[in-house]
Amino acid sequence: MTNDRILVTGGTGTLGRRVVPPLRAAGRPVRVLSRCERAADADGVTYVRGDLLGDRAETDARLAEALVGVDTVLHLAGGPKGDDEATRRLVAAAVRAGVRHLVYISVIGADKVPLGYFRAKREAEQVVVRSGLPYTVLRAAQFHDLAFGVVSKMAKLPLLPAPGGVRWQPVDVGEVADRLVGAALDGPAGRLPDLAGPAVYELAELARGYLAARGRSRKQLPVRVPGRIGRAYRAGANLAPEGAAHGRRTWEEFLAERLAGGAAGGVGGVGAAGAGGAVGAGS
Ligand SMILES: NC(=O)c1ccc[n+]([C@@H]2O[C@H](COP(=O)([O-])OP(=O)(O)OC[C@H]3O[C@@H](n4cnc5c(N)ncnc54)[C@H](OP(=O)(O)O)[C@@H]3O)[C@@H](O)[C@H]2O)c1
Repeated sequence: MTNDRILVTGGTGTLGRRVVPPLRAAGRPVRVLSRCERAADADGVTYVRGDLLGDRAETDARLAEALVGVDTVLHLAGGPKGDDEATRRLVAAAVRAGVRHLVYISVIGADKVPLGYFRAKREAEQVVVRSGLPYTVLRAAQFHDLAFGVVSKMAKLPLLPAPGGVRWQPVDVGEVADRLVGAALDGPAGRLPDLAGPAVYELAELARGYLAARGRSRKQLPVRVPGRIGRAYRAGANLAPEGAAHGRRTWEEFLAERLAGGAAGGVGGVGAAGAGGAVGAGS
């Protein structure tokens, strides 16, 4: 049995689907953990069914199976809730299995934005760092796909909510995937420079761009995100900090391709709202 297999959790998601093909192209056997039963695909990617947040004994059994012969784990599974617990379970299983490198995707602002999603990502980072496993952690900004999902919902409202001071720096999911693939193949590097998109936009500006590209417009409804969450966003806690890396692909390029029906990042799906730390009006 070869020992250079890579396990990708979240390999069926918006990000994961961009990571699996280049790993295969690099000649690495790839196994994907998914909550759904799936047959091996034509490219030789195999699947193990498992829910990181399911019954504990069942999760552990599935992870033990998924980790056989695995050298590197790319942990990309995630959702609006539970990334801390999911990561605790995965890391414990990876330690038991003798994994040699764990790569984790986190989010910019994990330690600064007082929302449950960000707190869970921060806790998950800590679990990885304290695990004793050689690791790589990358914090990314919100993906274009997530911004697209959020603004297309905002654009359905009769008035366009404009949460003052809430800015995003959306990044191309393909560029995040490239960074993670490089990290997985290069070996443990600790915390990488954060990765954000090339430009900062007010959330309402992203929505106006979407509407304009569809030949539509809406009157704006200025709103103020209250409390600590609002203060964190207005302070730019979710934006690239000093020393961050910046992707090249712009929101406008993404939007033009997505609305033209192109791949716009190569995948059709829009990540679960919240998976990248969405904040909408009033949240
Ligand atoms: N979206 C963003 O803007 C953004 C920004 C920064 C960081 N991130 C992080 O990047 C990662 C991927 O995000 P994404 O947008 O690609 O997410 P996504 O499209 O919503 O996909 C989520 C993936 O996680 C898997 N998953 C979810 N819950 C699971 C569970 N309990 N057990 C096992 N697998 C589970 C899903 O697999 P199945 O459905 O096949 O089970 C799916 O492959 C997440 O960790 C997210 O926090 C996202």
